[in-house]
Amino acid sequence: MVQFLFNGCGTGTGDLVADIYLNRKVDSVLSLMTTEEKLGQMNLLTSDWDVTGPTMRDTYMEDIRAGRCGNIFNAHTVDYNRKLQQIAVEETRLGIPLLFGYDVIHGHKTIFPIPLAEACSWNLELMERSAMLAAREAAASGLHWTFAPMVDLSRDPRWGRVSEGNGEDPLLGGLIAEARVKGFQGEDLSDPFTLAACVKHFAAYGAPQAGRDYHTVDMSELHFREYYLPPYRKGIEAGAVSVMASFNDLFGIPATASSYLLTDLLRNEMHFTGFVVSDYSGIEQLQDHGVAADRQHAGELALLAGVDMDMQSAIFAETLARSLEEGKIRMQDIDAAVRRILRIKFRLGLFDDPYRYLNEEREAEVIFSEELMEHALVSARESVVLLKNEPVNGKKILPLSSPGRIAVIGPLADNQLDMLGSWHAAGDHTKVVTLLEGIRKRFSGAEIRYSEGCDFYSEDRSGFGRAISLARNSDVVVLAIGETQDQSGEAASRSIPDIPGIQEELALELIQTGTPVVVMIMAERPLIFPRLNESASAIFYAWHLGTRAGDALADILSGAYNPSGKLVMSIPRNAGQIPVYYNTKSTGRPADPNNRFTSKYLDVPNEPLYPFGFGLSYTDFSCREFQLQDTLMGMNDTLHLSVSVKNTGAYDGHETVQLYVRDLVGSVTRPVKELKDFQKIFLAAGEERTLHFTLTTDDLKFIGKNLEYMTEPGDFRVFVGPDSERLLEATFTLVKNN
Ligand code: GLC
Repeated sequence: MVQFLFNGCGTGTGDLVADIYLNRKVDSVLSLMTTEEKLGQMNLLTSDWDVTGPTMRDTYMEDIRAGRCGNIFNAHTVDYNRKLQQIAVEETRLGIPLLFGYDVIHGHKTIFPIPLAEACSWNLELMERSAMLAAREAAASGLHWTFAPMVDLSRDPRWGRVSEGNGEDPLLGGLIAEARVKGFQGEDLSDPFTLAACVKHFAAYGAPQAGRDYHTVDMSELHFREYYLPPYRKGIEAGAVSVMASFNDLFGIPATASSYLLTDLLRNEMHFTGFVVSDYSGIEQLQDHGVAADRQHAGELALLAGVDMDMQSAIFAETLARSLEEGKIRMQDIDAAVRRILRIKFRLGLFDDPYRYLNEEREAEVIFSEELMEHALVSARESVVLLKNEPVNGKKILPLSSPGRIAVIGPLADNQLDMLGSWHAAGDHTKVVTLLEGIRKRFSGAEIRYSEGCDFYSEDRSGFGRAISLARNSDVVVLAIGETQDQSGEAASRSIPDIPGIQEELALELIQTGTPVVVMIMAERPLIFPRLNESASAIFYAWHLGTRAGDALADILSGAYNPSGKLVMSIPRNAGQIPVYYNTKSTGRPADPNNRFTSKYLDVPNEPLYPFGFGLSYTDFSCREFQLQDTLMGMNDTLHLSVSVKNTGAYDGHETVQLYVRDLVGSVTRPVKELKDFQKIFLAAGEERTLHFTLTTDDLKFIGKNLEYMTEPGDFRVFVGPDSERLLEATFTLVKNN
């Protein structure tokens, strides 16, 4: 086994000398490698510790020993990863260290809210910290690389994977992508408390037709670049060292075989210098897509398109040597891929010390540490969205003011596993604080009784009676209904994303008792619940909040924390509205209730039930005195705007004030509004503050008809307010030169 005695290798792209030094080291290793060893470094196989896809290859240990596999995913713990690393380092000819990857999407063992929930915090520092802490815990478990952040923009709640993303807006989605990449990777990848990030799924995986996972994605390139591309771009600009190709086709070619996406756009236009990994057996699926005649052809297409690492197909390892012999690919194509992979292994410090992430004491100290558990609570609290809090019998239900008797009802009320949400990696459900447990701790003086009421799937109403009786004999009902963690996530599309089973029926019957009911909708996608919305007076969107779910919800119910979440994805009135989103186009016949021949439905309004950016508080905020420094803006000017925000209610709280713009006349159709900035502020009861915003011509750029990024002079509307509908507005004109 060749000893690699390298001391440090710089940080890569930013430091030129270090980069040159790094490249020399990579080339020195490459020069020692056989073709089979090179192909082994391009091979990523799952261990049998977790199953995240349709195939499993149980010879992975033999593959490592034979040098046919240089990367493993779904393996963790210091003990197990050391065992696998020892095979690679001590039993193979060159001893090149393994790269260990895992889906650390929203925490590793300590689980934070699902990403779509945490995005509702609109708190970028919080989300960066979540990624940083998840990296610490995962790295302490022997991991080097996470398949996150998932940054696929989506407007379609039928698609179960909206749960992993950041909602419907490109600006916010991009800022969150940037925050999470920085959180995972930190300042230096060789820091054994950081993880290599992986921006996924490139590209536009979040727009499958009919919301059906893995389905065709088809849109204009203008639309793709205007809405779906920005979050990937921001994640890559933040320094992500890997990108995962998506399962779907786009512009008629599967991403995994698309040299336009993976080379022209990703590398040549976006200057991505890391490595591209296929998604789970994505290369093999090129045959099902109907673009590859066989496995070997699939491997050639993927490599030549720009895929460097083959997740779980084993096609690169098994067929590229023959492709080379047949002249279908060149050794330089293989070398380019291997270089990109080895560069990251060097930057992670694995050649300095392949066991640097493997320390039992550190593992024991970091996992479930107080720091992680506290952050899980902080993040969960900021993720919850208050949708309704209307008076019952003349009095607002929330926050609960020391109720004597609390009925806690519903299949998610005392449920640990589902609180972890989909993609909960190594999350330990036994550590989860349920809603019931959180209420018992927070309201210890109250009489608290629990009833499941019904399950998620059946028509079994046998539990209704006891639940209704409990409600009748209580001062308040806290009802937890929604989806299980496997009713969202991958391969979990639902044609009508309603509240499953008879849960909504149970809710309506509980409301009928006259006892005030606080509804907690716990799900991973916007659900459809028009009847419940009509009848309920208090509704939280409580998502799947992770390990500290119950504590966070109890803090909110008691008023110890004033809810501050704001939706990042519109909630439709019914499935027929999907896709419904705020940054829509005007059309040539904008809806006019007084004119039949305009763009609207006969049966529902165009607006969603709850719009992007919406979320209430226990207090009230008012925005007023929206002022522009000038109503004319030159191409090189900065427009200064201000608005006064006052907490006019009785509770201290946070408000997220949002700034939107509308380009009134463009050379292409422009959305009726676009988020351009936001500020999340804390105001004590009665406190007023003036917020200042700025706009530059960069903020007004858009993708023109020739796909160029451009600005055009003309009139603009500018809006400010607490969500994308309740807005103050003003106008200004961008002039060529003033
Ligand atoms: C899955 C997912 C991807 C995940 C990978 C590894 O199929 O599409 O997001 O990272 O496999 O688990």
